Amino acid sequence: MNDVANRVAVAASTPDVFGAQLETWRLRIEAALESRLPPATAVPARLHEAMRYSVLGGGKRIRPALLFATARTLGLTEDQVEAAACAIELVHVYSLVHDDLPAMDDDDLRRGRPTCHKAFDEATAILVGDALQPLAFQLLARDPALPPSPAIRLRLVDLLSEASGTFGMAGGQAIDLGVQGRQVDIAQIEDMHARKTGAIIRASVLMAAECVPGLDPKAHAALNDFATAIGLAFQIQDDLLDVLGDVSTLGKATGADRERDKPTHPAIIGIEASQERVHLLHGQALAALELFGERAAPLRALADWLLSRRY
Ligand code: IPE
Ligand code: IPE
Ligand code: MG
Ligand code: MG
Ligand code: MG
Repeated sequence: MNDVANRVAVAASTPDVFGAQLETWRLRIEAALESRLPPATAVPARLHEAMRYSVLGGGKRIRPALLFATARTLGLTEDQVEAAACAIELVHVYSLVHDDLPAMDDDDLRRGRPTCHKAFDEATAILVGDALQPLAFQLLARDPALPPSPAIRLRLVDLLSEASGTFGMAGGQAIDLGVQGRQVDIAQIEDMHARKTGAIIRASVLMAAECVPGLDPKAHAALNDFATAIGLAFQIQDDLLDVLGDVSTLGKATGADRERDKPTHPAIIGIEASQERVHLLHGQALAALELFGERAAPLRALADWLLSRRY
């Protein structure tokens, strides 16, 4: 690569330039979600209002960003994967709404606002999750913006259902509730993280890969390795932010894991060792991208952004 190209590549991966890219993706996904949600005026209005309240106007939108960055790395446009990005975010939001319920983490604050069951009521929050999940799969089945191939759509449905089901998010959440107050080792915690958080993050990357028919299996394996490392690092950071973060920046309570006696990396191995683990995983994620050379610049920048996130 010549000097100019090198400088352009370096500039493109600086936090400010990438911050602008993230903001562009955030605005894009906000509008895309808005247009795919039922109107608040449609019956049953209270449920639709609560769905819109929960989905719109907050959140980092990291999973859609991962999908867009993977698409870019593989030569796809954002248009081609926008509906898949919406589907992933809808499942993520449903998992947050249920995660906050009194029967689970019993949290009052989410994305800087009262949680869905506080702003509405518990039954409505349960129904919001019940409704967001099928909406996600409906998008994969029928959204005109996705690749028309039935085989690709079926694979996207398969990836998202596996990631959100009992071997993914829902199963991980069950393990999370089961280990509360119990002594578990780091390997068990990492297995729980891989399921409850890693699976959906991994699906964000692999769903973009699925939109490229005939993708080289080595590229697929590299993306899988990248996403697995990033997904685990993401939940360890979430647990670190619960200890080190600030409520007003995070938009959710801090100290909640300790209060509920949740086994986490910081609780078991301490803050410094947890941070080292995150750095190690970040290094593994970047190493997995080497195969793609400069084409993976958006994924590298996103991994770097995640490493230094404060919310
Ligand atoms: C929070 O996810 C829940 C976890 C899986 C750790 P995010 O940190 O991505 O939450 P939002 O979407 O930005 O609110
Ligand atoms: C939630 O993990 C993972 C999900 C599947 C929603 P947490 O319970 O740690 O997420 P926060 O801290 O409430 O966002
Ligand atoms: Mg939880
Ligand atoms: Mg929680
Ligand atoms: Mg947390």
